[in-house]
Amino acid sequence: MDFFIKFFLIICSINFSFTEYTKLDWSLCGPSDIDFIENSLTPMPMIFPDPVDWKFKAFLKRPIDGPIVSNVTITRSITGITLPIRCYLVNGQWVGSCVYPDLCKSIMYVTNLDSSNCPSNFQSNGVNCECPFNLQSGLIELQDVIQTYSPVFLANSWLINGDYKIKISASDSRGYFFCLNLGFTIKS
Ligand SMILES: *[C@@H]1O[C@H](CO)[C@@H](O)[C@H](O)[C@H]1NC(C)=O
Repeated sequence: MDFFIKFFLIICSINFSFTEYTKLDWSLCGPSDIDFIENSLTPMPMIFPDPVDWKFKAFLKRPIDGPIVSNVTITRSITGITLPIRCYLVNGQWVGSCVYPDLCKSIMYVTNLDSSNCPSNFQSNGVNCECPFNLQSGLIELQDVIQTYSPVFLANSWLINGDYKIKISASDSRGYFFCLNLGFTIKS
């Protein structure tokens, strides 16, 4: 085959493997005791180090009152190449594709929240930013501004560029909780 045609085909195939997300992509990957109604990160792509608006609305089909063990698998695509992210230690904290002992702690870590700066809309939804979660079944609606210019993101510079796919499978003492696929893009 002509060199230039080959070259053109290679360029095309590289470009076709880019998936720049224009909204937070999410789908269930198994049975779920939670109905996700809204889950958004704006803007998408997220631009590091700009703040990101997170909106979350869901219906809990049962209470949660203990740690949610979460198996997280992350792949990152950058310039058309997809690579798994492994589990590793950053400043005494496990990050990446790990089995996390409590999803609550992971959410508080990423959002930089604790009981001292817990947003009022969290508290009115029964989330006092202390872990583990202690929630009744029913509707839950949270929103927060995530600062990407925070120690968490600055320490995790691997997270700063690329298209990410994340699979979270979660369970607690009552059993299987949910399996969720997420996809998003971060640019800097
Ligand atoms: C975590 O999930 C991955 C991918 O779904 C799977 O291969 C792995 O066995 C799981 N690990 C645990 C400890 O459940």
